[in-house]
Amino acid sequence: MEQKEILLQVRDYRVAFYTREATVYAVNGINYDLHKGETLGIVGESGSGKTVSCMSMLKLISMPPGKIDSGSVLFGGVDLAKLKRDKIRPYRGKEIGVIFQDPMTAFNQVITIGEQMIEGHMAHFRSSRKEALARALSLFELVGIPSPESRLKDYPFQFSGGMRQRAMIAMALMCDPKMLIADEPTTALDVTIQAQIVDLVKDLRKQIGTSIIWISHDLGVVASLADRVMVMYAGYIIESASSDDLYERPLHPYTKGLLESLPSMNEDASKRLTSIGGMPPYMNKLNIGCPFAPRCKHVMDKCLKENPLLKPISADHLVACFLM
Ligand SMILES: Nc1ncnc2c1ncn2[C@@H]1O[C@H](COP(=O)(O)OP(=O)(O)OP(=O)(O)O)[C@@H](O)[C@H]1O
Ligand SMILES: [Mg+2]
Repeated sequence: MEQKEILLQVRDYRVAFYTREATVYAVNGINYDLHKGETLGIVGESGSGKTVSCMSMLKLISMPPGKIDSGSVLFGGVDLAKLKRDKIRPYRGKEIGVIFQDPMTAFNQVITIGEQMIEGHMAHFRSSRKEALARALSLFELVGIPSPESRLKDYPFQFSGGMRQRAMIAMALMCDPKMLIADEPTTALDVTIQAQIVDLVKDLRKQIGTSIIWISHDLGVVASLADRVMVMYAGYIIESASSDDLYERPLHPYTKGLLESLPSMNEDASKRLTSIGGMPPYMNKLNIGCPFAPRCKHVMDKCLKENPLLKPISADHLVACFLM
C-alpha cells in the first residue's frame, strides 16, 4: 500500500476497569495507525477488547469504572485520550461517526428517525431544520431506503432490521465525519441482509472516502471489507496484516485457529465449529507470558515467562509470537 496520510495514531493505549470486585485489563498497550480512506478491520473473540479499544477513544464506555491508564490517540493533532468529557463532544458524531451493533437500542424509540438525524447536524453546524432535513433525505437516498421522504417520519420500530441498520449508517454520515467506527454492525442481521450492508458500505466508501474501523468477531466478513486487519486477543493486538495476507498467510496460532473455525460460504453460522480449545482469559491480571499460551498448541517455555512484542515479519505484516 502506498504511504497515505495518517488520520488516527494510537500509541501504547491502555484501558482498564476498576470495580470493587476486580480490575479488568481490557486494552493493554496497543499501537496502530489508521490512514486516510483506509478500512481497518478489528477481529477477535468476545471480550478481547475490540469495543473498549475504540469506544473509549470517544468516552463512549462507562468511565468510571473504565479508565484510560496510558497512551495517546492522536486525531488531527489532538490527543483524544487527554480530552475531558465535555471537550470530546464535538468529535462524537461530527468528526467520528459511530455505527452500533444494535440500532434498536442505539436509536431513541419514541422520536422519529428523521428528528434524531437532524438533531446532531443542527447542533454541530448550527444549520436550519430545513437544511438538516435536506441532508437527511439525501443520505436516506444514498443508503438505499425506499420512499425516503416518508420513511424519515417513521419511528425506529417501523423499520426492518436491515433498513434500520441502513438508517443508522445514514445517521452516522450526517455530519460528514472523517472517520467511522462500526461496531459489529451486521452481527444481528441474517446472512443475506448482512451481505447487502457490507456491499452498501463498500459502495459508500468509494463515494465518500471515509476511513473506517470495522469491528467484528467474523474474520470472513472483515476480510472481504477491510484493507488491513488487526487481530486482538486479551486486550493485545497479536497480529496485523493486509486482509489478503492475513487470510492467505496467517502467522499467529490464534489467527490460524480463527480461520479454521470459519464456516464455508453455504454453511449455517449456527453450525460453526470452534477449533480453538480452552477458555478465553479473564483479564483480571496482566500477563507475564503470552496471553494465548494456555491455549496454544505450540507453547514453549519462553512463552510462559515473557510476553512477545508485536514485531514486523515483513513491511506490512506484524505478529506477536516467539515461533516467528
Ligand atoms: N463496564 C465494564 N465494567 C467492567 N468490565 C468491562 C466493562 N465493559 C467491558 N468490560 C470488560 O472489558 C473487556 C473487553 O470488553 P469489550 O467489550 O471491549 O470486548 P469485545 O471484544 O468488544 O467483545 P464482544 O465481541 O463480546 O463485543 C472484557 O473483559 C469485558 O468484560
Ligand atoms: Mg464488542
